[in-house]
Amino acid sequence: MYKIAVIPGDGIGKEVMEATLHVLEAVDVDFDYTFADAGDEYLEKTGVALPSETVDIVKESQACLFGAAGESAADVIVKMRQELDLFVNLRPVKSYPGTKCLFDNLDFVIVRENTEGLYIGLEEETEEGATATRVVTRKASERICKFAFEYTQKTGREKVTAVHKANVLKKTDGLFKRTFYKVAENYPGIELDDRYVDATAMFFITKPEMFDVIVTTNLFGDILSDEGAGLVGGLGLIPSANIGENQGLFEPVHGSAPRLAGKGVANPSAMILSAVMMLDYLDENAAARKLENALVEVLAEGQVVTGDLGGKSSTMEMAAEVRSKLEEIN
Ligand code: NAI
Ligand code: MG
Repeated sequence: MYKIAVIPGDGIGKEVMEATLHVLEAVDVDFDYTFADAGDEYLEKTGVALPSETVDIVKESQACLFGAAGESAADVIVKMRQELDLFVNLRPVKSYPGTKCLFDNLDFVIVRENTEGLYIGLEEETEEGATATRVVTRKASERICKFAFEYTQKTGREKVTAVHKANVLKKTDGLFKRTFYKVAENYPGIELDDRYVDATAMFFITKPEMFDVIVTTNLFGDILSDEGAGLVGGLGLIPSANIGENQGLFEPVHGSAPRLAGKGVANPSAMILSAVMMLDYLDENAAARKLENALVEVLAEGQVVTGDLGGKSSTMEMAAEVRSKLEEIN
């Protein structure tokens, strides 16, 4: 029995969460859910977007499923990443059948450093304009590179590529690159290389199948992971994991999509795939593969899918279809 915090949040976050919990009832793993509040609606009611009780509930859980927040996202999800020290942002780039992906053979993962780099928020106005500080520490570089190699080993992947701009950002990315090669010494069986971020952005378009696991700093990871999402077609499909020493928080990449909210038409796939990532994080790999396969069948058939995938089904109809496929597989 796993203790799971559930934060539906706002807009379609609530709808895709309801759909995903419905599907998870058919998974062969027991969960003990604790529901928690956060987001715009809660802010309107109480004046706070992320109550400390919610952070406590997440801290006391093994994992958290998060739907989406609206305008308060920065005060909710960004704050939670910091408070829980969720130093990894894991974003798979995987082609699924029946989707508008640009390549049908992609399966790589971006491991993005989630706590420092250019995103520490240290900007300053100067007489001439403004400056931003980019922080790269040995500690954060080591733990993100270590995570990338451990993840590669654990998932049976083969190669890790460090992405940086060490020719220009000599001190910060120089440190990141050196740390990568130092950490790599502990993982002799894993192939490795490093590439410049600009060239990487090009190879995403021309030869993306060359990548397996990418490890990179915060800003580069942010940009590359959206580029990766573009390769495999649509926000309704892209999950993510935020992982720290003690917790994992799993969320679709999309937000509350106010224009779709309340209509029951949002694609639940990104949230369902976030639950797949949670199952893998909990080492429930067999259950993860079954759930993923059930979703893949529904996508491939293309009959009971939401509007963004070219279908006419509702969020809950698609979820029910995934659940019945899963029950067949089980
Ligand atoms: P969004 O991701 O909510 O929606 C952008 C567009 O993508 C939608 O209009 C829709 O066409 C499509 N889309 C997204 N999810 C979909 C799904 N499951 N099924 C089908 N189509 C889908 O991003 P937007 O419009 O920029 O932001 C809306 C609100 O969400 C804002 O208030 C923003 O702050 C918040 N947000 C929250 C995030 C979070 O909680 N992690 C992340 C991104 C945005
Ligand atoms: Mg982003």
